[in-house]
Amino acid sequence: MPFEQLSLSNLVEVVELAERSDPYAWPEEQWRSSLRDDWVIAKRVQGKLVALLVLRPTFFETELLYLLVAPEARRQGLAADLLAKSLEHSKALNAERMLLEVRVSNLAALALYTSKGFIREGRRKNYYPLLAEDNTSANKGREDALLLTHWFIEQPD
Ligand SMILES: CC(C)(COP(=O)(O)OP(=O)(O)OC[C@H]1O[C@@H](n2cnc3c(N)ncnc32)[C@H](O)[C@@H]1OP(=O)(O)O)[C@@H](O)C(=O)NCCC(=O)NCCS
Repeated sequence: MPFEQLSLSNLVEVVELAERSDPYAWPEEQWRSSLRDDWVIAKRVQGKLVALLVLRPTFFETELLYLLVAPEARRQGLAADLLAKSLEHSKALNAERMLLEVRVSNLAALALYTSKGFIREGRRKNYYPLLAEDNTSANKGREDALLLTHWFIEQPD
């Protein structure tokens, strides 16, 4: 299945995918601005959106802002494919590196990123809010973020 580049016209299906798949999904307003301003690619299965990735290019780097696969489509290599495509795109833009932040508890995402050559370069204490067990917004505390980088140039000292 080829990649599709999304735009604001995909807002409704993007919000639907994110809300049913991710307890930490962005609010609709954030999707609206991201679909307008960022590079968003996706994959469909039988016409239905099941995976997406958001990349923000800046002057010398790119930042991975969001990566999501619907629960029923996980462990089939979709995230790995989207990530590989975003690395290719970053290189084509002559970015020096691609950056991302990930929850320290997100072992699935960490395994994926390290398998694609991302290395850990920092940690932000208490960066992300945690949800309660029942996924309501009741605050259960906070957790650290890990900062990961994939370098395309020789790593500076
Ligand atoms: C993390 C996520 C994007 C992975 O998507 P996916 O399509 O299932 O991942 P892939 O099938 O491409 O997996 C590629 C590799 O990542 C690792 N991986 C993926 N899911 C994993 C899991 N649940 N446990 C351990 N490793 C996992 C494995 O190394 C896997 O390779 P393998 O299947 O050959 O063992 C998906 O679980 C998801 O959408 N989670 C919720 C949102 C999220 O956490 N996004 C990342 C935010 S930074």
